Amino acid sequence: MKAIRAEFPIFDAQGSPFHYLDNAATSQLCAPAAHALHAFETTARANVKRGVHKLADAATVAFDDARATMAAFVGAASPEEVIFTSGTTMSINMAARCLTPRLREGDEILLSELEHHSDIVPWQMAAQARGARVRAIPVTSDGRLDLEALPDLVGPRTRIVAVTHLSNVSGAVSDLSVIRAAAPEAIMLVDGAQRAAHGPIDVRAIGCDLYALSSHKMFGPTGAGMLWGRMDLLESLPPFLGGGEMIREVRIDGTRYADPPHRFEAGTPPIGAVLGMAAAARWLQSRDRRVLHDHEMRLTGRILDGLATLPGIRLVGPQGLQGRAGIVAFEVEDVHAHDVCQMLDGNGVALRGGHHCAQPLMRALGLVATARASLAPYNDDDDIDALIEGVGKVIERLR
Ligand SMILES: Cc1ncc(COP(=O)(O)O)c(C=O)c1O
Repeated sequence: MKAIRAEFPIFDAQGSPFHYLDNAATSQLCAPAAHALHAFETTARANVKRGVHKLADAATVAFDDARATMAAFVGAASPEEVIFTSGTTMSINMAARCLTPRLREGDEILLSELEHHSDIVPWQMAAQARGARVRAIPVTSDGRLDLEALPDLVGPRTRIVAVTHLSNVSGAVSDLSVIRAAAPEAIMLVDGAQRAAHGPIDVRAIGCDLYALSSHKMFGPTGAGMLWGRMDLLESLPPFLGGGEMIREVRIDGTRYADPPHRFEAGTPPIGAVLGMAAAARWLQSRDRRVLHDHEMRLTGRILDGLATLPGIRLVGPQGLQGRAGIVAFEVEDVHAHDVCQMLDGNGVALRGGHHCAQPLMRALGLVATARASLAPYNDDDDIDALIEGVGKVIERLR
């Protein structure tokens, strides 16, 4: 795993101590993604889809390659099912806006209490516009989806189901097959923002209709992401934004739209960031994902064991390693999460503190804020030692 660290320029740049455990907020950029971004912007920059010169042709070919790479990354049936966006938030807003006209008064959108705000607010806006109702799968006390509640929540008016693949707070992996089976008629969107860096994605095996992710959480640049959609669904949806490159023909009295994915990609896309995202996806695909997973689980186990030895810690999420990833949120009794994070920052340990854009989850679990450590393949035992030692010091000094 040491070799992996060398592929992330941030570690040389930051020196030490530098224990970056805030990967769920944003991960670090891998060298191949940095190279792709830099090379495009400095030596190969041109606009895509509209060029009649060599540089523009080359940019368009590279952009199309990136689409094929991202299609393979999520197990899509074809590259045309991949829509490039600026990130998960934009992807879910696009999905919600495009689906809004389908909703009727009294229809239901099923979310969960585990969701990030970006998989809640866009659906509330859609529901408000059409008189539909938002419902939510509750969570268990250990931060998993309470799937036993599903039969009471799914009914003939359930039109859309939108759930996270992996919680950015509790680290719990959702059992998507149970949700799919419970609502076979509904359009199902999966928020894969956290999953992308933590395990393989196969949208056809999941059986979902839409899947959203962000480049910056999977070792690519900021500013890019994607929405995958089943082609027959995409073909039936109206565009989200109007502008250049999403049309077939424009007249003053009306416009005929392009086919997917271009219908959903108005204007100049974040080309360099998309090429970087594809390079990051290739980097991830070239790793043995089993080895990455085992490394993550071993370090997660060390965090859970280490925190369990300290007094006054409340873990938010599954106690064991089953069905979870290396995202560990915790509360130090009587100490605000921001104080925990600030003290650890003094020792070079970067955590996230707050509600993690998941206020309904915090409310459901009776919390206001937590500290959160989240792992990536470049984390090592030193990072975990520094974390546990730092939390120990917080308890000694502040509790
Ligand atoms: C589960 C989840 N969904 C959505 C998002 C939003 O992602 P972005 O800010 O990249 O749009 C995040 C970001 O933390 C997240 O963790």
